[in-house]
Amino acid sequence: MFDKRRLKPVFVIVLITILWPLAWAQDSNQSESMVLRQIMQEMGDHMEVVTAAIAHEQWSQVVAMAPLIGEHRQPPFMEKTRILRFGGTDVGTFRSYDNKTQEAAETLKQAALENNGEKVIEAFARLQKTCLNCHQRFREPFVAHFYKK
Ligand code: HEC
Repeated sequence: MFDKRRLKPVFVIVLITILWPLAWAQDSNQSESMVLRQIMQEMGDHMEVVTAAIAHEQWSQVVAMAPLIGEHRQPPFMEKTRILRFGGTDVGTFRSYDNKTQEAAETLKQAALENNGEKVIEAFARLQKTCLNCHQRFREPFVAHFYKK
C-alpha cells in the first residue's frame, strides 16, 4: 500500500521538475515586479505601523501587527520555484532567515501581550536585525538575478 505521506515529497519533486524549465524561461524574460517585492513592501509598511504604535504605547496595535509581519503571505508557487532556482544550495539559508523573522515577530507579540514596553522595544530591535541579516546576504544577488538583465 502507498503511504500518502511518502507520496507527497515525490509529488513535489515531480511538480518542480516540470516547473523548472518554465521558471528558467520566466527568469530570462522578466519585466514585471516579483510578488516577493510587494510582500516586502507590505512588511516595511507594517514595521512603520509598529514604530508608531510603540511611540503611542498602543501595545494592542503591536499585538495585531506582529503576525502580519511574521506570517506574511507567500509568493505564488511558480515564483517560489524561481526563488528555489535562484537560491540553489543556499535556499535552506534563505528559508532559515525567514524563520528567524517569524520567531522574532512572535516574541514581539508576546512582549506586547505583557504590555511590557522595554521588552517590546528590545524585541522590535531584534526583529529588525533579522530583516537586515537576510538583506545583507541575499538582497543584492536577488535583485541582480531577477531584475538586471
Ligand atoms: C528571507 C530573506 C528576507 C527577510 C527575512 C526579509 N527580507 Fe526584505 N527583502 C528580501 C529580498 C530578497 C529583497 C529584494 C527584493 C526585490 O528587490 O525585489 C527584500 C527587499 C525588501 C524591501 C525593499 C522593497 C522594494 O520596494 O525594493 C523592504 C522594504 C523589505 N525587504 C522589508 C523587510 C522587512 C521589514 C523585513 C523584516 C520584518 C524583511 N524585509 C525581511 C529578503 C528578505
